[in-house]
Formats: sequence, structure tokens, C-alpha cells
Amino acid sequence: MTSLSERLEREGSNALALLSEAADIAAVESLRVAVLGRNGSLTALLREMAVVPTEERPALGRVANRVRSEVEVAIHDRLAQLHRSGLDERLADEGVDMSAPGRPMRVGHLSPLMTAERDLREIFHAFGFEVFEGPEVETEWWNFEALNIAPDHPSRDLWDTLYVAEPGSVEAGEPRPAEDGTILRTHTSPVQIRAMRELRPPLRVITPGRCFRHDAPDASHGFEFFQVEGLVVDRGTSLADLKGMLEEFARALYGDGTRTRFRPGYYPFTEPSVAFDIGCLVCGGPGCPACKRSGWMTILGAGMVHPHVLRAGNIDPDEFQGYAFGMGLDRATLLRHGIPDLRLLMSADLRFIEQFPGGR
Ligand code: PHE
Repeated sequence: MTSLSERLEREGSNALALLSEAADIAAVESLRVAVLGRNGSLTALLREMAVVPTEERPALGRVANRVRSEVEVAIHDRLAQLHRSGLDERLADEGVDMSAPGRPMRVGHLSPLMTAERDLREIFHAFGFEVFEGPEVETEWWNFEALNIAPDHPSRDLWDTLYVAEPGSVEAGEPRPAEDGTILRTHTSPVQIRAMRELRPPLRVITPGRCFRHDAPDASHGFEFFQVEGLVVDRGTSLADLKGMLEEFARALYGDGTRTRFRPGYYPFTEPSVAFDIGCLVCGGPGCPACKRSGWMTILGAGMVHPHVLRAGNIDPDEFQGYAFGMGLDRATLLRHGIPDLRLLMSADLRFIEQFPGGR
């Protein structure tokens, strides 16, 4: 008679052979029951071990355990394999391969203009300035009158300022400026008035933003451009504060060795007014076409806030004084990267923009 151990081995290899032919999950499951179930063939053999003489049991036990675990592992593997191929079939049907690597995403970044604006915000933040923004669509009162710009000032000309048309006047073939004086702001200075009225002194703000002028676009002009304005109103403010502040600013933005100078200037809303220059960033001093052979570049206009302007901001000029400055962000950005033409900045041409992966 064949020994129990031989029959165990045979039953095991039998089960393995059947398993490899089991074509689907249900077939594997019924095989499992037939072999390992309560009335399964292998289970029956294992029960027979009860009548084997004690001294033979350890050796037989090792065989029995090995055979059973071989069958169990094989069932497990076969099930996994069938699951996987079922999934593959479904994936082929659905045309979606969940295991495929993702498509790389195109990650955008800020335009060099906005990177420059952020850098300015950061520098002024360190100097204690907060950001205060105003509307791009203004009225003549905020943009000119409140800033002491006379009604006959040339900058208010139709050929300098973009006026919003009186409703219906364009359709009627007789376009004229809106009666309520709505315009696109020509500078960020009107935000000075809004900041004074809303924040009350003492205050230190910068007011970055988009401005508009009736300008034909060329390499250094656009009808749309960006400014960053600064305003400080406090007791006992003087031109010396303005000077110190701007010198520090120029060093923070353009480096420690930056040369600076102040020249007299004129703006209706500051008195006295100055133009602030830095040593030419292109030639470094001797003179070149970029600085019109002067060795200097004007980076902003500034001055002590005119009493008329303080009053428009509901501030008593006898109690408070202040200084203001305004700079063109576009030009600062061109200088910073050596970009030759302003129009590139607004072109939305990715070949250009992707060269300046500065900020996100
Ligand atoms: N608003 C001025 C301009 O557009 C700049 C400026 C701002 C000058 C504040 C002095 C003070 O040219």
C-alpha cells in the first residue's frame, strides 16, 4: 500500500496541475473547496494522520505542512494573476491605462513685470511700507484736480489722457468725454488721495498698479504701463527723509555700489520736486546711447507732498507733511534684464516670457 506521505505528495501535485488549468476565478475557488475545504481531498488525507504511529508523525507532519502551503500559495498566486489579467482586459476595453505615468504639466510663472513688482513690494515692506491699491478707472477729480493739476494742464489733453466716452455719444457719431469726468488713470498718484482719506496719517504706503496714456506704442512707450508710487505722511517729515529713503531703496534694488543723484524737478503735486537718477546701468558712467551719453538714468520723480494735495486728502498741512515718489515699473524691468523693447513685456509671446522664470 502506498504510504500516506506519497499520497499527500501526489494529491499536492494533482492540485497544482488542476490549478494551472483553472481558467477563471470561479474555477480556482471551487478547486480550493475541493482540495482544502472541509471535505476536500487534501483535508481527508490530513485527517488520516490521526491513525499514524506516533514516531512517524513528525516526519509526516513536515510533508503535510509543505504540501498544504504549496497548494495555498499557488492558489493565492493564480488568483492574483487572474485578477490582474481581468484588469488588463478591462483597461484595454476602457482605453485608460491607470498605471501609465502622468503627462508632465506645464507650470506657468509670473511675467518679469510682476516679478519686479513683487521685488519692489518686498523691499518697501522691509522699509515699513504697506501696499494700498486704487482703481484703474478714475475721474478727473482724483487723477488731476486733487493733485493740483490745473484744468488747462497739457497732460489733461485728449491726446494724452484716455477719456471714457459719454454714453451714447459714440453711437451718435459725436464722441465726447463723459460728463462725470471718467478717465483711465494716467498715473498711480490719485491713490495718494485715497490712501490719505482711508488710512489717515501717519502712513507709509506703496501703490503699485496699471496706468494708461494716449501714447502710440514704440520701444519705450505703451498706452498701458505700470507704476509704483510711494507716499509717506507724518509729523516733521522733510526732504532729508525722502533723500535717505530713496538712496537706501536704490541700493536695495540695484546693489550697494549704486551711485545716485538728485536733480530739481517739477510736478504740480509736489513742492519742491526732484528727479532721482542712478549711475547708468549699461555703461556704468562714461556715457552710452542708453543714458543719452550722460552717464545717468532717471528712475523716478519725487518731492514733498504739496499742501493742496494734503488738503484734498483731508489732512491739515500745518500738522502733517509728507513725501511722495513715483516710478515706472516697465523701464525698471527692461533695465534689469537688458530687454530692448517694451512691447515684448505685453506680447504674451511664450518664447519671450519663458526666458524669465523668476516668480510663481
Ligand atoms: N505721477 C508722476 C508721473 O506719473 C510721478 C510722481 C509721483 C512724481 C509722485 C512725484 C511724486 O510721472
